[in-house]
This record gives sequence, C-alpha cells and structure tokens, in this order.
Amino acid sequence: MQGKKRLVVGNWKMNPLWLEDAKYLLSAANRTAPRLTKTSVVVCPPFVYLSALTATSVSKNLYFGAQDTFWERRGSYTGEVSPDSLFNLGCDYVIVGHSERRALGETNEDVSKKVAAAVRADIRPIICVGESERDEHGHYFSFIRDQITGSLSDMTTKNLEHVCIAYEPIWAIGKSAEDAIDVRELQTMALFITKTLSELFSRSVSESIPILYGGSAEPENVQHLFVHGGVDGFLVGHESLDADGFRLLLSNVDQA
Ligand code: PGA
Repeated sequence: MQGKKRLVVGNWKMNPLWLEDAKYLLSAANRTAPRLTKTSVVVCPPFVYLSALTATSVSKNLYFGAQDTFWERRGSYTGEVSPDSLFNLGCDYVIVGHSERRALGETNEDVSKKVAAAVRADIRPIICVGESERDEHGHYFSFIRDQITGSLSDMTTKNLEHVCIAYEPIWAIGKSAEDAIDVRELQTMALFITKTLSELFSRSVSESIPILYGGSAEPENVQHLFVHGGVDGFLVGHESLDADGFRLLLSNVDQA
C-alpha cells in the first residue's frame, strides 16, 4: 500500500511436529522471497525450531519472528523466553497478544509489557487485536480501541514507530477465504485503528505503523483485501503451513 513495504507474516502456531517439516516450509518460503519486489516475508515457527532455522541462510527479505515473548530480560521465570534471547538468535519480529494467547489468560497489561520489552530488545512486535463477535451497535469499535490503548500503554510516540498492528477478528480465524472479513469493513477498521493511534500518539507516527489483516487470508482473497482494505499486509495462519499455498499467497500480495 501507499509507499509502505508490504508484509506477510506466517504464524505456524504449534505446527509442524517435526523439524524436518519446519525446514521444508522455510525452504519453500525462501524460494519465493527473492522473487518478491514489494513484499517482505516473516516466518514465525514454534520456539523449539528457531535455533535450527535461524542458522540457515535465507533471502534478505525473509525475516524470522517468534510467536510470543516474556517481558523480563533474564532470571527465574521457568518456561518463559527472553526477548533478548530471541534477538540474539536472529529474530526481527515477535507476535504479541495473539487471540489464542489472550484466550489462555493474557491481558492487555501483559501484552503492553511484552511490547515494550520487545522494542527494548530491538525486535518489532506485531500486536494482535480483534473482537470475538460483531454487534449491530458497533460496540466492537470501543473494544478494539481499548485493546490498542491497553496494549500500548508502555509505549511513547518516540518508540511507537517499531510496532505493527495485526487486526484479527476472532470470528474470521481458521476458516476459509469466503469467511474472511468484508473488504469495506476491513477498510473502516483499518482507518479506525490509524485514527486511534493518532489520538493516542501523533498523526505522523500513526500513519507509518503497518496494519496487517489476519483471519482466513488465503491466495484467493488477499489481492482484493489488500487493494481495497487499506492494510499493509497479512498475518497468515493455516495457509502458511501449506508450502504451495503460501507461495501463491505471497506472489498474489506482491502482484496486487
Ligand atoms: P488463519 O489464522 O489464517 O488460519 O485464519 C490467522 C491467525 O490466527 O493468526
């Protein structure tokens, strides 16, 4: 979109079960990445594969991301992963506040601390927001505003430029192309998110924040959603686990 680099993020979630399959998915994405002229690709494998995958050499427009991080740098936090360790491994991005983590109890306050910690560690947080259902009175707009406000409460205008927002309505996640959001509704929401950021911070910085859409993004619908939806790219779940489908999706976004 309008001058910003397009971004497609593959969120592999808790898949695949074997490192060999993870390597295969990465190599497929990596074969496509150099052919893209306007689009950067981020793959977000499970933590357990990051070390092996980041050790392989990849195209310069393919980046690694994690699916979560902790807010402390180091210490006695059994099972948590430091943003600094992720940076040291070669991660440039981290997904924060995915609805599947929020469903497990993650709060806006947790997300806010993670966002600030990621930025401190020099990693770009991809902050997920999204309502579980829509009501005819439009209350979901204030829900999204509260999620954004709460998830960015530790940020300042100065360091906000490092973040991306992923709008992922929960009702559209994990379905198929025809169940994704209506493009006009996406455009309205993208404008609303930028307006909310500009009220919280500054207009110029808010206009530079990439907004991604997630929720049944597939090769069939990404061009339409990209051209008319006012977004800068996509956060892709199930389609990022299909090597051929993901390659087609990437090419379609690049050619839109
Ligand atoms: P989906 O998932 O592409 O399978 O809908 C998106 C996500 O949960 O990030």
